[in-house]
Amino acid sequence: MNISVSTTFLNIHPFMEKKSLVSINDLTREEIIAILDMAELYSQKPRQKVLEDTLVATLFFEPSTRPRLSFESAVNQLRGRIIGFAEASSSSVSKGESLKDTILTVSNYVDLIVMRHPIEGAARYAAEVAPVPVINAGDGANQHPTQTLLDLFSIRKTQGTLENQTICMVGDLKYGRTVHSLLMAMSLFNAKFIFIAPPELRLPDEYRKFLKDKNLSFQEYEALTEENIAEADILYMTRVQRERFSDPLEYEKVKNVYVLRNALLEHTKPNLRVLHPLPRVNEISTDVDNNPKAYYFQQARNGVYTRMAIISTILGKKPENAPEN
Ligand code: CP
Repeated sequence: MNISVSTTFLNIHPFMEKKSLVSINDLTREEIIAILDMAELYSQKPRQKVLEDTLVATLFFEPSTRPRLSFESAVNQLRGRIIGFAEASSSSVSKGESLKDTILTVSNYVDLIVMRHPIEGAARYAAEVAPVPVINAGDGANQHPTQTLLDLFSIRKTQGTLENQTICMVGDLKYGRTVHSLLMAMSLFNAKFIFIAPPELRLPDEYRKFLKDKNLSFQEYEALTEENIAEADILYMTRVQRERFSDPLEYEKVKNVYVLRNALLEHTKPNLRVLHPLPRVNEISTDVDNNPKAYYFQQARNGVYTRMAIISTILGKKPENAPEN
């Protein structure tokens, strides 16, 4: 779907410059739209020289495929340089170096740090101590704002708007940081929510209270059925995350609780699209991959354009194909 791009981001730059992105709540509705508009321009022309002379570090203290590689692809396509590590064991953290010392050291080498860390709050701490901007690529079960921005880009791309969408979130709503970030962002666009989770992985009270305080409507179910997803525009599937369970038996109880198959999508709305932050294990059957309603691999590609826009915005750069005014 073609999205008309405003030039709002030209005015947003002064506010965003040198700011870190730790939580989706760091951004206003206008800043979010500005980043998505810029991502749209990068999707039209991804190879540009916008980040020449720019150095970025990716510090991944937790495994990752999409954020790390899409950030690296984004920087490389924009002709920047990237350094970093993919696991804590290959850094001096394995010798006992603190997060603060690591961040202060790496800040000497680069213009911007992208960090993933298993501890909630680690990204906020890094942003506070770092003299350069920090982008949170996921901190424990807390926040994953860059995933949220690419999710929003994907929703707008497939639905033509972010307004008044009904979004059904399925699976691990307790530990799922992508769920927590996305529901906060969609609350800015008058969304309705349907939550489907087993009791053990129900949405935490703080997020239910957040929606109630904003007078936003939500329904909760345990079963993934045709009736429960009938009104959805977006079906946001998530993985039950083994790494977040302290008791392996608890994980075994819920690991295969939902499997999305083609038959379940037959009577859903024609505009419905299936999103998933990935990786999937078996919560989406591979026969869904060829269904026109499946959008999760395009969603992953959108991550490159969105992360180009996030880095550019924070560093005060703009795409070569940006409109003049
Ligand atoms: N979507 C996401 O953050 O996935 P990985 O880090 O596991 O690739």
